Amino acid sequence: MELWNKVVLITGASSGIGEATAREFARAGAKVALVARREERLKALALEIGELAWVYPADLGDPDAVVAMAARVRSELGTPDVIVNNAGAGTWQFADETTPHDFLRQAAVPYLAAGYVTTAFAADMVRRGSGRIVVVNSPVSRVAWPGAFGYAAARWALRGLVQALQADLRGTGVGVTEVLPGKVSSDYFASNPGSEERIPTISALIPEVTPEQVARALVNATRKGRRRTALPLTLRLILGQAWVTPRLVAWLTAITGAKRPEQAKR
Ligand SMILES: NC(=O)c1ccc[n+]([C@@H]2O[C@H](COP(=O)([O-])OP(=O)(O)OC[C@H]3O[C@@H](n4cnc5c(N)ncnc54)[C@H](OP(=O)(O)O)[C@@H]3O)[C@@H](O)[C@H]2O)c1
Repeated sequence: MELWNKVVLITGASSGIGEATAREFARAGAKVALVARREERLKALALEIGELAWVYPADLGDPDAVVAMAARVRSELGTPDVIVNNAGAGTWQFADETTPHDFLRQAAVPYLAAGYVTTAFAADMVRRGSGRIVVVNSPVSRVAWPGAFGYAAARWALRGLVQALQADLRGTGVGVTEVLPGKVSSDYFASNPGSEERIPTISALIPEVTPEQVARALVNATRKGRRRTALPLTLRLILGQAWVTPRLVAWLTAITGAKRPEQAKR
């Protein structure tokens, strides 16, 4: 897809991967619609990007707010050519530490939000017969690890959303891309305290990537119409191994993963 003058809607554009992705699309000449809750941060980014950026503050966990945001985008910019479902949050907790309300919050953004944003624009995109829907997911959507119950379940659900969309949109001209980064040097772990220390130690094999590296891979995959991209290379190798020997990789992830304090003493 040629990106010049295309409309690209990016969720979670106030920080990390989304912010870097907005800069990268704008650099390619696309118009970027920036969506997140923190309006001041979106405005600062729009100021930096200049005339190619528009700001749409919204809480994506609220379907009414998504419908209202989509109506504004449609009337000001038209139907997006590309949607990047990237907004995500969720503190990592064991299932027995999680309340029903925690679980709903962990599923709301990214999983439900990606469904809300996609369905708000899907009919127009299919009618037009072109475009791409990008979903930023996590390696936990392939191998669940301990101590991140709601987070992992939401990312597996997101993986299901990607597959269901790929099946639904086949032959419509609208493509779907899933992006799988390893650990990213964004604000994610500062915004979701208590999570970083629960990363399985085996992941030390996978070098951390920057939001800018993820943004470049995401934009490149959009341009080339790829179904999936994962980075860095070590993560691709481990995901390949998980495909061949799923139980071995699940076991290695589990034994190097978080332990409850009473288990750690044993
Ligand atoms: N960081 C990593 O190591 C890593 C690895 C693999 C995958 N990922 C995934 O990549 C995605 C982006 O993460 P990041 O690393 O860039 O983290 P980040 O810097 O914390 O950014 C998260 C973004 O999501 C937005 N967001 C959260 N809740 C929202 C809501 N209710 N409504 C609208 N926007 C909301 C935040 O904006 P506001 O707070 O302004 O609303 C922010 O812009 C997430 O889905 C994350 O799971 C991250």
